Amino acid sequence: MTTLVTATHLFFLCVSVFLLTMIGFSFYWYLQESVVLPAPPLSALYLNSDFDIETRINDLLSYMTLEEKIGQMALVEKNSIIEVSDISSYNLGALLSGMGAGPEQNSAAGWKTMVTNFTQESNNSRLKIPILYGVDAIHGHGNVPGATIFPHTIGLGATGNEALVLEVARATALEVAATGINWTYSPTLDLPRDIRWGRTYEAFSDDPELTSRLGRTYVKGVQSVTVESITSLPVVLATAKHYVGVGAMKWGSSSNKNFKIDQGTTIIDEQLLRTEYLPPFKAAIDAGVMSVMVGLNSYGDTKMSAESYLVTTVLKEELGFQGFTVSDWYAVYEMAGSDYDNAVSAINAGIDMVMLPFDYKPFIKNVSRAVACGEISEERIDDAVRRILRAKFFLGLFNEDKSIPELSVVGSTEHRVLARRAVAASLVLLKNEVRALPILPSVNHIRVAGSAADNIGRQAGAWTVEWQGIDGNWLPGATTILAGIKNRAKGAVVEYNMSGIFSSTTTVLADIGIVVVGEKPYAEGWGDTEFPSMSSEDVLAIKNMQSAANLVIVVIISGRPLLIADEIAGIDTLVAAWLPGSEGAGVADVLFGDVPFRGQLPLPWPYYAEQLPISASGTTSDGTPPLFPRYFGLQ
Ligand code: BGC
Repeated sequence: MTTLVTATHLFFLCVSVFLLTMIGFSFYWYLQESVVLPAPPLSALYLNSDFDIETRINDLLSYMTLEEKIGQMALVEKNSIIEVSDISSYNLGALLSGMGAGPEQNSAAGWKTMVTNFTQESNNSRLKIPILYGVDAIHGHGNVPGATIFPHTIGLGATGNEALVLEVARATALEVAATGINWTYSPTLDLPRDIRWGRTYEAFSDDPELTSRLGRTYVKGVQSVTVESITSLPVVLATAKHYVGVGAMKWGSSSNKNFKIDQGTTIIDEQLLRTEYLPPFKAAIDAGVMSVMVGLNSYGDTKMSAESYLVTTVLKEELGFQGFTVSDWYAVYEMAGSDYDNAVSAINAGIDMVMLPFDYKPFIKNVSRAVACGEISEERIDDAVRRILRAKFFLGLFNEDKSIPELSVVGSTEHRVLARRAVAASLVLLKNEVRALPILPSVNHIRVAGSAADNIGRQAGAWTVEWQGIDGNWLPGATTILAGIKNRAKGAVVEYNMSGIFSSTTTVLADIGIVVVGEKPYAEGWGDTEFPSMSSEDVLAIKNMQSAANLVIVVIISGRPLLIADEIAGIDTLVAAWLPGSEGAGVADVLFGDVPFRGQLPLPWPYYAEQLPISASGTTSDGTPPLFPRYFGLQ
């Protein structure tokens, strides 16, 4: 009996404590939300650009409430904003367009209007702290129809050309800034060791040295773009991503049930992590990068966003990173604990801004509660906000004279000419056994085939208007590879059939056949595949072309080396053209010899999957030589 009474009492006691706590919290929130705080004085130092950045940050921090600080740490997907006024009332730090999310009127002008409206709303907040607005401008301002689409990063890696990468990064930042956006999630500094990974093409190379060189240059390019104004401050922040060890995940270890290797476990030890994966980030920091995105991979059993040793000790303390860290898409909530526990672990590990990307209200409440309970220190919050504000001051977001480039730079002729040059510089000649290349002026009959010859979507790849890309011919202002060939071969007869079937094949052979084979666009883990290869339709198109032309050139459009052990012997002339983007004419420039072949493989090209992963020194897993080693490329 006594035991029963005690248990019942205990139960009621617990319920009462719970209810009282809830009432307490609700009252606290009511008070928080109903108190109207005064605006800062017009003489506030942070509003005065005569003061140095650190003084301005300290001043601004002194006006901020805890909730305002936590709001700055939230990065929200723009379609998750419940009321636009939440941007100012919650003092949100940043918005992003995730998965390419654009405005209803999906044009450069539509983007500018959308982003400007969001930004203006942030200026209605008590302290008028402007938002950052982020996009994945990973190969030009790819979300925007009509923007210049540069080759995907792996193509830039194949050029090995810093001056060119600098120009590409600057042009990209200009187009981004013209639409009112001030933050790009590029460059990618991953080092892909296993080309079955669906993100291979987002990287420059698997070589830490080349990646460091081009990554550093890209950061400088993006962050050096200024627009005539009194202050001439940069207009776009770069992001070094994905920190760290991304590309060294084990096949089959993905934490996402739909994927194989993307979001998997990095399997190298700390020494290799330091000698291979850290240097590109060090180079980016030395170049002044102001944000670093922490990857969706795990290290051991720990998701990278909870890796305090790597994020705080190594990145911030050892490498001296002064900007802010941002977690990747939903990463913080993919950990094993409750939303509350996960937010606590990530922030304590050193994540400064959380890409939520959806539920910002619970996030702000959870983090406030954690600070109230002492699970996150106020110093940690101040450190995170200080870093975010530093980036905002670096961009001069508080300066009234801040201006942005003219919208006409988006997809401008100048940028398209540059992109075409980049395409031409990225082509790698892998085989030229019968000297089919360059195509001579005497050639007067050309046949073209293959799934990627007349398909902008394939040559642009994913992250183009749609996250997963669009397979087909839809992109304003773009030129297909076929159009580029036709234009260059004026005077010659150019026939096209995707399958390589031509009515007069039996009687007439063309001088040259060009088969442009290609992968369908894919992004992230959706591109993980056991056997990256040519489609059977493309293999058949090559066969058909071999009976339709005297000399056959095969051009591969792909985000990675394809496994072509079965086909290679039957191909005399082979070119890797990566994912060239909107300016397909750059391919013809090289095929016809107007520009020499200068590209080199930015990573080894394996024969078969058993050779994967391939180490940084180029050694395959089974010890046999790859089909082509890294830096191979005929002149
Ligand atoms: C990707 C990041 C990207 C982010 C925002 C994530 O899924 O891993 O590279 O920057 O989405 O779009």
